[in-house]
Amino acid sequence: MAANWKMFKTAEQARDFFRDFLPLVAGHDRDEMVVCPPYLAIPASVEACRGSAIAVGGQNLHWEKEGAFTGEISAAMLLAAGASHVIIGHSERRQFFGETDDVVNLKLKAALEAGLTPIVCVGEVLEEREAGLTEDVLRRQCLRAFHAISGKKAAKLIVAYEPVWAIGTGKTATPQMAADAHALIRSEAEKAFGEEFGQQLRILYGGSVKPENVKALMAESEIDGALVGGASLDPKSFAAIVKY
Ligand code: 13P
Repeated sequence: MAANWKMFKTAEQARDFFRDFLPLVAGHDRDEMVVCPPYLAIPASVEACRGSAIAVGGQNLHWEKEGAFTGEISAAMLLAAGASHVIIGHSERRQFFGETDDVVNLKLKAALEAGLTPIVCVGEVLEEREAGLTEDVLRRQCLRAFHAISGKKAAKLIVAYEPVWAIGTGKTATPQMAADAHALIRSEAEKAFGEEFGQQLRILYGGSVKPENVKALMAESEIDGALVGGASLDPKSFAAIVKY
């Protein structure tokens, strides 16, 4: 169960969140939990989560180890700050920051090489769904993201299916729509990394996940977890989602 805070919360606000959130999920061991704050709130979040079952992740990274890349953050910097996970290829990065499938591939390789657990996001926009292109888009995004990576290297990979039309809109994919997309992503992972890998791959659903709809989504065997935006900003609401 993963939280993507996007561009919300300072370090102090992150501390306040964990003060309230940690007691609500204390002893909860059914699900792995990860919270991805903005970079500047990572150290405070790591500190707050020390001794708990909650991992902390970044929302992005640069693919080079270091260099003249103003404004960028490397995998090693995330690890040094205490992060263990990183979101890659979120639709907002693709949409607003020009991130392509090839960039996603470079970032995925860098994250795996460094030992971070990558959460690679894929998903179609509304026009693509309406034009019947969902499967083509997901296939292309997976194929390009997984290009030239071995199954052994990819061991930690997590994929998130986030239909762009469901992000922050209050519209959720029906559990069946999500399950169909997950099955397709799984088959692409099988092709790239082998059948066993595909069967074990964890695929999260993201897009307007709320305490009210998480149970129906998680009832689908294809859906292994959730990547939650807006509803993860409030400790009570994210705890309710985690403990659905
Ligand atoms: P919302 O839960 O706000 O729709 O955001 C989903 C998302 O983009 C998570 O990465």
